[in-house]
Amino acid sequence: MRIFSGIRPTGNIHIGNYLGAVKQWIELQKKNECVFCIVDMHAITTPYDVKEMQKNIIDAASIYLAAGVDPEKSIIFVQSGVKEHAELAWLLGTITPMGELSRMTQFKEKSKQHKDYINAGLFNYPVLMAADILLYKGEAVPVGKDQEQHVELARTIAKKFNQKFGNIFPEPETILPKSGAKIMSLTDPKKKMSKSDDAKSYISLFDTPEDITKKIMAASTDSGKDIIYNITKKPGISNLLMIYSLLTDEPTKKIEEKFKGKGYGEFKKSLAEVVINYLEPFRRKQKELQTRDVYVKELLNKGKSRAETIAKTTMQEVREKMGLG
Ligand code: AMP
Ligand code: TRP
Repeated sequence: MRIFSGIRPTGNIHIGNYLGAVKQWIELQKKNECVFCIVDMHAITTPYDVKEMQKNIIDAASIYLAAGVDPEKSIIFVQSGVKEHAELAWLLGTITPMGELSRMTQFKEKSKQHKDYINAGLFNYPVLMAADILLYKGEAVPVGKDQEQHVELARTIAKKFNQKFGNIFPEPETILPKSGAKIMSLTDPKKKMSKSDDAKSYISLFDTPEDITKKIMAASTDSGKDIIYNITKKPGISNLLMIYSLLTDEPTKKIEEKFKGKGYGEFKKSLAEVVINYLEPFRRKQKELQTRDVYVKELLNKGKSRAETIAKTTMQEVREKMGLG
């Protein structure tokens, strides 16, 4: 299968992004043809710091590599480097109903969050995302739960294109992780972990051990002192249990047993240790790659050429079908 996925280079990629998306990529890469994109054109739809963008792009690439994406096998590249993304997004925009776009949860949330930054790009965000996927004829898209609605719209757009102009696009399917599709905020476990919230609410993949310990020890817990997985009654502890379970591959039941009769403090200390050890290679790889950014840039350039070859072929087909050019 052809797999496509992407992450915005907005800095502070957190364990929610990792457990919701990147971790699955590594498994999928073994048996599929994968295209992983650093979607900088999506990142600019919300306020951002121009000076930080290049660093964030290299950081995102480091995360892909540290997590185990194999650049020989999979294609890793930067979205804005392949012009066809913008071109296809424009064309697909002409068959995307405005009504569908205005129903998108992310658009509603982001417009509330950034009241003075409600731009047409933010509204058209899902059209660009559909273009990303369809340009490579992506058949499956591994993402966290929050992106399911966008992939659904990409299916609708593919179907519409095929009916109107001729069948060229597969209808992409979402691949959600079995668990961990939605990691919640450490400070408010009713909200999803998000990089645009306060730094105390998420664990970045590059956080120092001291910061990780501080954040976990301060994480919101629930009344009572039992360590039990129960999302409605104990959302805080359940979220921490889920993170523990996903990073150790131990079922939550087993972790509950392990901490039976012990307090939240002891559990959190142990979780901090688990997280620190798990993320150690990420910090190491980032440090190493910071001194080798020529290597990372070269790798992204190679990815760009490979991506371009596919993108150009698709665009030729699309232009022909639409009677353009
Ligand atoms: P973004 O940071 O929005 O570019 O997200 C990159 C990927 O991480 C997407 O596949 C999201 O669905 C996923 N993701 C973001 N936040 C979370 C979360 N709190 N839990 C699980 N997955 C997430
Ligand atoms: N919108 C996705 C997010 O916020 C990122 C993204 C852009 C993406 N294009 C994509 C994900 C294509 C999967 C496929 O997480």
